[in-house]
This record gives sequence, structure tokens and C-alpha cells, in this order.
Amino acid sequence: MPEEDFVVTPWEVRGKVDYDRLVQQFGTERIDAPLLKRIQKHTEELHPLLKRGLYFSHRDLNWVLDEYEKGRPFSLYTGRGPSSAMHLGHMIPFLFTAWLQKHFKAKVWIQITDDEKFLFRDFDTLEDATRVGYDNVLDIIAAGFDPKLTRIFFDTEYIRHLYPLAVRVAKKVTLSTAKAVFGFDASNNIGQIFYTALQTVPCFLESIEQGRNVPCLIPCGIDQDPHFRVTRDLAESLGYYKPALIHNKMMPGLKGLDSKMSSSHPDTAIFMTDTPKVAGAKLRDAFTGGRATVEEQRRLGANPDICSVFAYYTYLFAPEDPYWKRVETECRGGIRMCGECKLELGGHVMEFLKEHQLRREKATGQLEKFLVRD
Ligand code: TRP
Repeated sequence: MPEEDFVVTPWEVRGKVDYDRLVQQFGTERIDAPLLKRIQKHTEELHPLLKRGLYFSHRDLNWVLDEYEKGRPFSLYTGRGPSSAMHLGHMIPFLFTAWLQKHFKAKVWIQITDDEKFLFRDFDTLEDATRVGYDNVLDIIAAGFDPKLTRIFFDTEYIRHLYPLAVRVAKKVTLSTAKAVFGFDASNNIGQIFYTALQTVPCFLESIEQGRNVPCLIPCGIDQDPHFRVTRDLAESLGYYKPALIHNKMMPGLKGLDSKMSSSHPDTAIFMTDTPKVAGAKLRDAFTGGRATVEEQRRLGANPDICSVFAYYTYLFAPEDPYWKRVETECRGGIRMCGECKLELGGHVMEFLKEHQLRREKATGQLEKFLVRD
């Protein structure tokens, strides 16, 4: 297979991603059964995203748990580039981070990179990026974070706190490193080249706040890993621990497992503010592993392994194993038809959206409990 059949960078995910090859290319480690067991010792239940493999790769997670078991807690850091309204795929790292926070009582830092989305041309004006960021923060809060243990900040509003560290980081990253890691060339603007320094800084904020070194774990999409390779190379020279990482795969879109949910293709994505009618219509048109005719499907069964609808059961909408297994067995056995399966999923999705939208509404009055500014 040619090298270029897929591309994963912080700014572009294209083609059918081969996650095994990515683990090799990036030099990360697989999350294996012993590691899952180790996590479960502390959380009792395993989050479906973990046990069903959407979180599949890590760096130094065993070390974070070593420290934790010695009584040294870790902080969590994740972020959002506010390029558009948020969909289910965007919610994954936040839902998972909130779960980790709950089980490990961890402090969470959330960076909103309005600067990034302006610099990388998602918007003509910086104000637009900030405005979308404020809308996204409502969805992020609705993921269930504890206000006492969570700090959300916008790069443009917290820059005095970030900048002293950002310059120290920036001094350690040469242009040739930035070119090699991110593929920059002479046509990139200089803000794009500097930006990675800002994405590094929050790894160290908890250490600064506490005045001692605190391990940091970053739940993020694997596409963000290049930033943190840079961070890990320079962290110790600045006197901090290397951040640890736990990576998720891209959440598949509704049009098949080979394409991710994408805001630029709204029919592949369920947005957090979609009405039941809109979400239902998208699900009705989703790609499944069904047969050409009902008769054939009854006789031969369908294929959940290639089905977007089943992927949604797997990752978000069938947390209980017996139910999830039943959906699969009925599907393979030709008992479950795609139409009814989509309707059933639609019921779960609408319930989820309804509750999310209530929490989102409530979040408008809670913003100031979460946001930190200069
Ligand atoms: N660059 C990320 C994006 O485009 C946003 C981000 C900032 C982030 N800091 C992060 C993501 C830390 C994960 C972890 O969405």
C-alpha cells in the first residue's frame, strides 16, 4: 500500500486511517488488556470508549498510574479548536475526560484555541473564532465537569498567564523541527509556526499553580499527537515532566466507518444542537451493513463490522454489555432489520440530545464558574 493513502495531522485527517500503522509511525503504545485492568482497579467500571477500543493508544499512561498509586495525583488537559458547532465526535474527548475526572478526582484544564482557528484560516476574523468558542464551551460544560476542579480558558483571554511559558517553549523549537513535525513550508504564516508553543503550555499549568511538578495526562484525538511529541522533547529541559497521553480514534461518521464525523459534511454528523427531527433524518440515511433486501437479510444476516449505526451503539449508546451483545447477535442473525435498528438508536440519540441540551441551557448561567481569564 502506498504511504499516502491516509493523512493524519492536527489540521487534516484524510483517507481510511490505518490505526496500527499510525501507532508505529507515531511511536505510541497500544492500550492492551493488562493496562485496561490496571485502570479498572481505580474506576471499577471501564468506560465503553476504553473497553471497546475507541481509546486505543497512549504514551506513558503506566507511569501516570505508577505515580497515582504512590499517592501523587495527576492533572488532565484537553482542548478544543472552535472551528464550528460541536457534534458527537467532538464531544468524545470531553465526555471521556469528565469520566476520568470523576474517577480520579483530577483537576482539568481545558484550552479553547480561538487563536489557532483564526491563524489556520477557519475564520476571517478573530472575533468569529472567539464567538464560536463561547458557544462550544456550553457543550463542553454540559459534558459534566466539576466546576470546582475545572478551568476553561481562551488563548486570547488568558495570554498573560500563558505567554511567559510560551516564549520559553518557543525558544526550544527550531523552524526545522516545526517543518519536520507539521509539514510547514515558506507559505505558512508565522503565527501558525508559533502556535504549537501555546498548545504545549497548559501541560505545565497545574505544576505552576501548585509550585511543584504534577504529572499531566492529555486525552486527545491521535491527530493532536504531533504537538505533544514536540512538548515531550522539551518538557524536561524546562524542569517539567513529559505529559502522558491517551489517544482516541476519529469517531466514524454516519456514512460508513472509513470517514470521520465532519462538520463540513453535516449529513455525516449529529450536532449537539440538532433537533430530534434533523437527527432522526440523518440516522435514517446512515450507512449500515445491511443486505439489499429484507428477505436476504433475514436469510443471511447483516454485517455490524462495517456499519455506522452499530458503531454508535458501540461507542456511546449501548453502555451495558448484554444489550450491546444482543444488538450484535440479532443483527448477524438476521433478526434485526436496519430500519428498526436505526429507529431504536434514534430513540437513544434523542434522549441523549435532550438531556445534553438541558445541561447546555443550564451552562449559560455557569460560564463564570468555569472560565479563567487574565
Ligand atoms: N488543537 C486542538 C483542536 O484543533 C485544540 C486543542 C488545544 C487540544 N489543546 C489541546 C486538543 C489539548 C486536545 C488536547 O481541536
